[in-house]
Amino acid sequence: MPSDNDVTTFEFSVPTKVFFGLSSRRHIVRSLVSKNWRCVGLVVDHNISDLDHIRELVDSLEEETEVVYGICDVSEPTYDDLDRIRTQYETQELDAIVGIGGGSTLDVAKAMAVLVHNRDPAITYRGFDVMDKPVLPIVAVPTTAGTGSEVTPNASFVDRPAKRKMGINGEAVRPLLAFLDPELTVTCPPEATVSAALDSVVHGTEAYVAKKSNSIARMLALEGMRTVLISLPKVVDKPDDLESREHVMYGAFLAGLALMHSGTGPAAALSYPFGVHFGVPHGIGGAIFLPHVAQLNVDRGYNGYSSLYRSFSGAKIDISDNEASQKFVDHLSTTWGKLGVPDDLDVYGFEDKHVDLVVSDTLDLMGALEQNPVDFGEEEIRIVLQRFLDKRS
Ligand SMILES: [Fe+2]
Repeated sequence: MPSDNDVTTFEFSVPTKVFFGLSSRRHIVRSLVSKNWRCVGLVVDHNISDLDHIRELVDSLEEETEVVYGICDVSEPTYDDLDRIRTQYETQELDAIVGIGGGSTLDVAKAMAVLVHNRDPAITYRGFDVMDKPVLPIVAVPTTAGTGSEVTPNASFVDRPAKRKMGINGEAVRPLLAFLDPELTVTCPPEATVSAALDSVVHGTEAYVAKKSNSIARMLALEGMRTVLISLPKVVDKPDDLESREHVMYGAFLAGLALMHSGTGPAAALSYPFGVHFGVPHGIGGAIFLPHVAQLNVDRGYNGYSSLYRSFSGAKIDISDNEASQKFVDHLSTTWGKLGVPDDLDVYGFEDKHVDLVVSDTLDLMGALEQNPVDFGEEEIRIVLQRFLDKRS
């Protein structure tokens, strides 16, 4: 669907080979063996390491390959955590790293792939393509659906002294193989399920409206966002509904692909300072801000959310783009209410005295802010934050 922000020249590739579907995890061993990766470092989320299906998976790997088994025991990994965790992998010649877990575990797996041969402290490799030694091939086996980490060249970590979240990034940290098996998400706790899935809605929505988006990215973003928004409430109602789990994982994957070929935006940017300073999970943080950022855009005359609204409410096409965009914002707010997404920041301890800090940290992510379809700088960040503060009175 052409629109006024179509980009007519772009690059598009999916370097990650993706195995999607129920029981796709059963292809992991064969895939590793076919690449002659005989000694692999496992990074397993400690929350799931004792579950039967994860043990089965590890056992099957151990039958065919030499496995160096390691645990990821943190949910918001810092660079100090990376230096501690890396000691688990330093005694063997590894051919590849396999991450099994949620977004943080996959990020740690990406870092381990870097740190096996790049021996300086982990913080040294913060930034883009900073590593100078080879990076091991990465295999991603997500057990949550939403982060898109399985196809992105990024891994985020908290720099504790600087109180910033900034990653180890580069083409080499993009997984070579990814196994997206919805069955692996069934044991994901409700809060993590919702947070990860909402992360993908933020990815899809912001990738769709980003200035540097293109027709393919928008197609993926729209379908990903739509699929997750429709299926997530069903998963919340019935956590063992495999079909809905499959749909959420599929939609999140599409949104991740869109993100990779487009950009993120202010809602995702605002989630970072709230993660570092207030402990707000990334997906929830982005979701809290998404309707407010979108409302500000609509208030300033942007109507580009209309296609997103029409994508899941096809019957209601006889309305203007402006009305449809407003209805999209309203739909997000209503859905967030049903899913229990907080609509205030008090619960996280955010007060007036924190505004300058959050503004400063968010402005550091100018690359994301610049993708917003209307100008979004310090003034707009303050407007959005003030709307939350005003709710208290
Ligand atoms: Fe995200």
